Amino acid sequence: DYEYALDRDCTTLSRHVLQQLKSFSPDAQDLSTLMNRIALAGKLIARRLSRAGLMEGVLGFTGDVNVQGESVKKMDVYANDVFISVFKQSGLVCRLASEEMEKPYYIPENCPIGRYTLLYDPIDGSSNTDINLSLGSIFAIRQQEGDDSDNSASDLLQSGRKQIAAGYILYGPSTMLVYSIGKGVHSFSLDPSLGEFILTEENIKMPQQGAVYSVNEGNFWQWEESIREYIRYVHRTEGYTARYSGAMVSDIHRVLVQGGVFLYPGTTKNPEGKIRLLYESAPLAFLIEQAGGRASTGTQEILDVVPEQLHQRAPLIIGSKENVALVESFIQQQA
Ligand code: AHG
Ligand code: MN
Ligand code: MN
Ligand code: MN
Repeated sequence: DYEYALDRDCTTLSRHVLQQLKSFSPDAQDLSTLMNRIALAGKLIARRLSRAGLMEGVLGFTGDVNVQGESVKKMDVYANDVFISVFKQSGLVCRLASEEMEKPYYIPENCPIGRYTLLYDPIDGSSNTDINLSLGSIFAIRQQEGDDSDNSASDLLQSGRKQIAAGYILYGPSTMLVYSIGKGVHSFSLDPSLGEFILTEENIKMPQQGAVYSVNEGNFWQWEESIREYIRYVHRTEGYTARYSGAMVSDIHRVLVQGGVFLYPGTTKNPEGKIRLLYESAPLAFLIEQAGGRASTGTQEILDVVPEQLHQRAPLIIGSKENVALVESFIQQQA
């Protein structure tokens, strides 16, 4: 017996946001509109990815290097532009900041009234782009606090606790959107024939402990000894299993559903690791905390870190409470 979500009580994303806020206040309307826009960006990106092998000009590199020092893929640029154009029309967002742009992007026509900033990673897991594997997008919404005339975006340099909403879109066998506005974590699946994200699971609570550890062990000799010790512990202890996809969104989605831990520790080359705070770690930390998990640098909660720069990185240990605490215990023993 096949039972589609629609045959049950079908909840669309926009209705869900309004229900969560239990009001039709201007703020609730704003959030609902913002989430709808993010959903639209997700649909556009998912559509392009689903046809990548059939179209010219979708896959491969552009030849440019971004502010991170990474070779840019055509999909990075496409997805970055999709978010910009989708939010140009919203009226609500005055500024966007992303992994792919050195400086924040202002939408002057929105700025007199646009009260929000969108932070995003347009394509997470770029290395999976040309091989038809899972990718993601990460997003966070913050209230715009600074006056935008000086272009410094200094108001963005605040902790992750300032996030109003955060989440990710996972482009896997199906496209999923997982979000939180600080009232639990909820997942939606894109029904392509409807073009709608339909509620899949409400109030996701992740396991306190899980078997999965997700880390690039190719960096073993670049880590600090404490991380090596943790991995040695995992290797000799029964009940662990390694999973690493190259796209943090899919690895963390697995951890959200099944428990476990994802790590990107500092390396000799990059003592702060690779994962960027404002549009990667902080949104995911917000979500995972809302699901009953934790995110840490090893010595501090990710959500408490106040960045000094837009593209600042930090070591990341994220997942089930007990798994994160275990990694921390190795780091703190060494300290
Ligand atoms: P992005 O594609 O947005 O630059 O992020 C890639 C991140 C993350 O998604 C992934 O887990 C990690 O980088 C992979 O890095 P390594 O290849 O160094 O393991
Ligand atoms: Mn990148
Ligand atoms: Mn990323
Ligand atoms: Mn990216």
